[in-house]
Amino acid sequence: MASGRRRPVLLLLWAALCVGPGLAVDRSNFKTCEQSGFCRRQRALQPGRSPYRALLESLQLGPDAARLQLVNEATKVPLLLELRGLRGNVTRIRITELNPPRPRFEVPDVLLGDAPAERLEVSGRDEGSLELALGPGGTHRLLVTGKPFRMDLLRGRELLCSVNARGLLVFEHQRQRRQQPLTDKLTGWVGRAWDKISALFHRDPPQDAPTEEGAAAEDGAADTTGDTDEKPPENEEEPGAWEETFKTHTDSKPYGPTSVGLDFSLPGFEHVYGIPEHAENLRLHSTEGGDPYRLYNLDVFQYELHTPMALYGSVPLLWAHGPPGSLGIFWLNAAETWVDISSNTAGKTLLGKLLDYMQGGGETPQTDVRWMSESGVLDAFLLLGPAPHDVARQYGMLTGTQALPPLFALGYHQSRWNYQDEEDVAAVERGFDAAALPLDVLWLDIEHADGKRYFTWDPARFPRPRDMLRRLAAKKRKMVSIVDPHIKVDPGYRVHAELSARGFYVKTKDGGDYEGWCWPGSAAYPDFTNPEMRAWWASMFAYDQYEGSTETLFTWNDMNEPSVFSGPEVTMHKDARHHGGWEHRDLHNLYGLYVQMATAEGQIQRSGGRHRPFVLSRAFFAGSQRYGAVWTGDNTAEWGHLKISIPMCLSFGLAALSFCGGDRRGGFFKNPDAELLVRWYQAGAFQPFFRAHAHLDTARREPWLFGEENAALIRAAVRRRYALLPFWYTAFYRSHRHGLPVMRPLWMEFPEDSATFAIDDQYMIDRALLVHPVTEQGARGVQVYLPGKGEVWYDTDSHQQHPAPQTLYVPVTMSSVPVFQRGGTVVPRQERPRRSTECMQGDPYTLHVALSPQGTAEGDLFLDDGESFAYHTDSRYLHRRFSFANNTLTASSADPRGSFPSPAWLERVVILGAPKPAAVVLRPAGGPETPLHFQHEGPVLTLRKPGVPIGADWEIVLR
Ligand code: NOJ
Repeated sequence: MASGRRRPVLLLLWAALCVGPGLAVDRSNFKTCEQSGFCRRQRALQPGRSPYRALLESLQLGPDAARLQLVNEATKVPLLLELRGLRGNVTRIRITELNPPRPRFEVPDVLLGDAPAERLEVSGRDEGSLELALGPGGTHRLLVTGKPFRMDLLRGRELLCSVNARGLLVFEHQRQRRQQPLTDKLTGWVGRAWDKISALFHRDPPQDAPTEEGAAAEDGAADTTGDTDEKPPENEEEPGAWEETFKTHTDSKPYGPTSVGLDFSLPGFEHVYGIPEHAENLRLHSTEGGDPYRLYNLDVFQYELHTPMALYGSVPLLWAHGPPGSLGIFWLNAAETWVDISSNTAGKTLLGKLLDYMQGGGETPQTDVRWMSESGVLDAFLLLGPAPHDVARQYGMLTGTQALPPLFALGYHQSRWNYQDEEDVAAVERGFDAAALPLDVLWLDIEHADGKRYFTWDPARFPRPRDMLRRLAAKKRKMVSIVDPHIKVDPGYRVHAELSARGFYVKTKDGGDYEGWCWPGSAAYPDFTNPEMRAWWASMFAYDQYEGSTETLFTWNDMNEPSVFSGPEVTMHKDARHHGGWEHRDLHNLYGLYVQMATAEGQIQRSGGRHRPFVLSRAFFAGSQRYGAVWTGDNTAEWGHLKISIPMCLSFGLAALSFCGGDRRGGFFKNPDAELLVRWYQAGAFQPFFRAHAHLDTARREPWLFGEENAALIRAAVRRRYALLPFWYTAFYRSHRHGLPVMRPLWMEFPEDSATFAIDDQYMIDRALLVHPVTEQGARGVQVYLPGKGEVWYDTDSHQQHPAPQTLYVPVTMSSVPVFQRGGTVVPRQERPRRSTECMQGDPYTLHVALSPQGTAEGDLFLDDGESFAYHTDSRYLHRRFSFANNTLTASSADPRGSFPSPAWLERVVILGAPKPAAVVLRPAGGPETPLHFQHEGPVLTLRKPGVPIGADWEIVLR
């Protein structure tokens, strides 16, 4: 353990490393591709010189896969290529070593299971290539060329994607180390010496610290290959291949270079998206001449905008969308990954493209994507769409869909680092009531725990947590406390003592418990990749284990990249060891997912399996959508950060992470002025996760502190959110069932409209609402693009109808949030202002019916108890359908399997775009027809008090 004297020194050291001058990331803390050995090695390869040959004669067709060998002609090392056609239009390409001397890491716990595979048939063959038929009736064909190895995937006659067309396949096989150059030895020695010196500062040296001889033996430790007669590749002895030093940290790399990489060419596609998390526009840029986009979960202090730098989470799913439709590439690898993007149209202006076209058509646009990962196997899924909704479903089929959140989690959350004590919590809560602001959840950050010992409470500031929680619950409100995965190294702390006694911590390469520096000082890191450890962690959420907790206390998992202040790039050493002997290098990007998974499991278990969990996580990976919500980390109170929250959340949604909070209302660092704060609330009210949060050093910013005028604007924004909760909840249900994002880029709904392909300052919620929040300081108006040939849109404030497509100038005041309802949709609302979502259960509904030019509309409503799994286990839910046609609005069941005894009824129907009727009647199923009172003003027809139960079938006829 570090001594008291050493702590301030290290804190200063950390601050100096992390806090660059002013409010900007210190880039020198994070690697560029050039500084990351495998990225540098792979990028140095020239296209068009692939050494790989497919041995076509080795083809074996099994019931689930076609297998054949690839060989690297330079090294003669054989690889195994497996091709699978998965049901639902997905092609899986897997490459690994045919005879691996040591198993390579294959990502567990992300895929839902083995998706059913279709048998592949050979549909053509000649000397140099063979063709496999894929999909029902052979709709797709995969042409495998032997030398150099390349694959072309065709739909009919259309080429969708080529693999290794640029010859950038890389598979660094495991090998023995050759003679180590002197320079490498020296750098390695200096790095190791420094590591030891810095280790002295923050922990006692491990008992079994390696001796010089041990380290030397380790240098040759890759003597596991048994693979002696091969010719080593040229790069084998390149500096950094067997040991890599970044700043003061040395990565021992006992297994040497093991990276994998592959290129995909996408003809016809000019636009690619996805691969969160980057503080970047929705449409990804060409990376030529700069760094590739990086996927490596990192705690990046004061991140900058518009860089390809890695952030807290990673999902290796890239989307392409354009005239050929939509296509996804899912690269299942949890190691550090870089993605290069180039295109033959990048940098060309519209005029340039037009000139090309006039001079004979120009080139077909094409985007090339190249993936590079540090270890593991090469496992790629091509999601062949063809429509955007299909790609979303295909990804959902592979990795699961968004967990259905408890209803309260869609309400408003108030957080700050930190609410000081129980009295502070009570005062803030009273403030919300006094300001008539709805509030569902109050959050407690790290200072609530006793010396940052998670699962405990500071005895002076939070002496009676259960009473505090009960007081909140009496007002139908919840609380979230933070539980981070770094555990204070303190033998008197029960959590630490148990973890250490059970051997549940991540280990160093030398076998001791891995320790690093984080909020509590010296900390160790539970090995969440170990299922036994996860089961133990889950058990810690039992009410008798997490003392002071109740069923209304939920969890925030922060710093789970994992963040290690004293580690390389503020994270864990890559040569640390996990369960099963895997290196941290192999699974780094999975760590955060496992933390959230184990926590969610704990919440489910504590309720005896009845209640849905709520866990917010900062780090994530593919599959995290199954465990809760994510947010975009520590942003800054600046307009640019407000603006970027939209594309960031959209790209999360493309990766199935529907429950995303683009930001914290007002920004984490710095103090927002009133205008920024109000605009942030307005934008946030239309993003899935709606939480305010602020840094310890910022001024208090509860809404009422900004004067009554601004508080009123914020109140209006929050109430707008609450009125639309039935619509949000139904959208989440759809996301949960079908894998569709809740917040969607316009092109997902208007895939043919190329004007939407680069838009990321406005978006759709589900299929009905188009939102264009105001994100410019001093804005007096915004340009809103209304897509959809022959469609109409209704301004949800003025109810004015606008034909589409068009770009509409919308004047704005401080109270405006431009939102448009698509003609042809029905949006359910609950319009009575309440204290929290729980208070709204049973409240009456209003339907907003926006008619299409054909006088039709469709919509639905999902409701259940808002908290349990009974919707799933006992079909306790209502899913209602509302459709308007032939002047009749019909309510019927969208899913007769469900039933739920809701007391709620229909209070009002607002029909937009209907002519004035002579009379309106209600026909309840099996009941007598009754006239309905109505009012027609401008384009709005309002029907008052139909009074029918929300679960009943009925018709309303306009005559
Ligand atoms: C970092 C998180 O991103 C931030 O939201 C939190 O307030 C601090 N950690 C302290 O827990």
